Amino acid sequence: MVEKFYYPNPAHTAQAAIKNMDEYHALMTEAREDYEGFWARYAREKIDWFKPFDSVLDDSNAPFYRWFDGGQLNIAHQCVDRHLLTRKNKAAIIFEGDNGDQRILTYRELANEVNKTANLLKNRFEVVKGDRVVLYMPMIPEAAVMMLACAKIGAIHSVVFGGFSAEALRDRIVDAEAKLIVTADGAFRKGQPYMLKPIVDEALSRDCEAVRYVCVVERNGEEVEWKAGRDYSYNELIKSESARCDAAIMESEDPLFLLYTSGSTGKPKGVQHSSAGYILWAQMTMEWVFDLKENDTYWCTADVGWITGHTYIVYGPLAAGATTVMFEGVPTFPDAGRCWKMIEEYQVNQFYTAPTAIRLLHKMGEHEPQKYDMSSLRILGTVGEPIDPPAWRWYHEKIGGGDCAIVDTYWQTETGGHVISPLPFATPVRPSCATFPLPGIMAEVIDKEGHPTPAGEQGYLCITKPWPSMIRTIWGDQERFVKSYFGDCAKEGKPVYFSGDGAVIDAEGYITITGRTDDVINVSGHRMGTAEVESAIKKHPQVAAVAVVGKPHPIKGEGIFAYVVMKGEDTISEEIELVQEINAVIKKEIGAIALCDSMIFVPDLPKTRSGKIMRRILRALAKGEEITQDISTLEDPSIVDKIKNCCKGAGMH
Ligand code: WT7
Repeated sequence: MVEKFYYPNPAHTAQAAIKNMDEYHALMTEAREDYEGFWARYAREKIDWFKPFDSVLDDSNAPFYRWFDGGQLNIAHQCVDRHLLTRKNKAAIIFEGDNGDQRILTYRELANEVNKTANLLKNRFEVVKGDRVVLYMPMIPEAAVMMLACAKIGAIHSVVFGGFSAEALRDRIVDAEAKLIVTADGAFRKGQPYMLKPIVDEALSRDCEAVRYVCVVERNGEEVEWKAGRDYSYNELIKSESARCDAAIMESEDPLFLLYTSGSTGKPKGVQHSSAGYILWAQMTMEWVFDLKENDTYWCTADVGWITGHTYIVYGPLAAGATTVMFEGVPTFPDAGRCWKMIEEYQVNQFYTAPTAIRLLHKMGEHEPQKYDMSSLRILGTVGEPIDPPAWRWYHEKIGGGDCAIVDTYWQTETGGHVISPLPFATPVRPSCATFPLPGIMAEVIDKEGHPTPAGEQGYLCITKPWPSMIRTIWGDQERFVKSYFGDCAKEGKPVYFSGDGAVIDAEGYITITGRTDDVINVSGHRMGTAEVESAIKKHPQVAAVAVVGKPHPIKGEGIFAYVVMKGEDTISEEIELVQEINAVIKKEIGAIALCDSMIFVPDLPKTRSGKIMRRILRALAKGEEITQDISTLEDPSIVDKIKNCCKGAGMH
């Protein structure tokens, strides 16, 4: 079915940052004709430089691009200190806890907290410029304060999502050679306290020689163990720190943070972002895509442990001088009206969430939205996966009251900020379509040879010119950086950034994302490497082989489907226990986010004669589809029917 178009609400076009498609095309033309001039203009306008940059783009060592060389700045200054002149008493962060407790930090208060914390990092924890600090934090203001405090002194933070297990946390600590870990005793979820510090203790029980200190923020007040000489209380130490702290002078290309994400091998990649280029695009997209106005209250429901939390809870909104809402809890507690209640209470103007949350809230609380006045809303955003038309329409009608703009923002950890998205008051949109590249982003759908695909045909989504907020490298693995993103596609002999996603472009240039083309699945908007899950499952002593694929899931988008081959013969009788055991291993190795939705025990996997697992077949079988493709290249073609029977036996289809 071809979806109908929805046109921008005329009530907002006149005040919008980009008012119509002519303005959009004019910006695109400007970027095309003078690419460096375009970016230089915005970099001068948006960033409060300590020292202006000498060059715009250095592509002499592609794909290791450099932006704004010679420029000096500080990201905490850009996000906090510079606003003290005009916004000192404006709310920077509005925090709401799981239990409904509230805390508001004005820009002045935020500046003080950041400075005190920066001094603490420097004076008590001996953190110096370039050191890595791992943050394993709940969604509390201190998480943002810590990120900004690192930026203030030039330390590189690596936030690890609080849902990752001790093993996963340890891997990330070791890879980054972190010196300091910041965590909390724990926090609250669904009215109950949960713990983080014990997970840090477990992670640090081996292999983390570089870690000197653990700084513990008090949140839930539960008792934790203290290791003398290593563990310190943030709340105690912070009392004696001064609220004055000079910003470290940083170069444009100094790394701002690392953020680990999944790839198609078992080891997560430490995506490294820069200072100037990253903050420029975070701020510009905040202003363009969320059409930010001075008195707006903006709320993004992501977790700071993901890139969305970095760019669109902390850095983008604060760089733009916005009021950003931060929420500790979950959208279904105490009921599925929690978000709508908060939108009414804080008079939220822009609300940004994931399709999986929209589907869940639709299913669990279809009639909740009508209980609340959400007329403050102007823009609704979605991110993380393609949004299906039913979810889009419910969001549009029931949350947006039929007259909000919906921005389906396509981007990735590696892109730093949005790359394909509607402009809320310019772009006519169709449900499930991310529409056009943002001005300055040269996104194209191309085939393996680098030629643009004809309208309507599936191709690879690439970005053919470097852009300021792009990934700079994979921490400690330059070769993997080049191979992962620049290996496959080229255009006019130049390396081209390959997103890993498939896409279709139509005759008018609308781009629809069709999903990953690599072995990465998208569970509830979170990227999960099949190889990562497989290597976790293989740690179970009785597992001989395993293959994991994605399977469409009504709420999560994709669920994890595992085909497991056990060592030995008669395992069937113990299946239920085995599933539990294997899930326990996954929980230990990665965390609950990687638990399997279905697990099928099979005699073998479909392999080619060279031993390659044919995942396409497994994906089709997981969906219950008939196998139409040629299976004669399989080492044992009869395995397909055997697996089918196992699926049937398990009551799958
Ligand atoms: C992958 C990136 C970017 C923040 C959240 C996830 C998928 C993201 C969309 C969208 C279709 C989307 C892609 C992408 N994705 N946004 N609007 N429409 N697909 O960040 O963990 O780096 O995952 O999420 O597959 O490659 P991430």
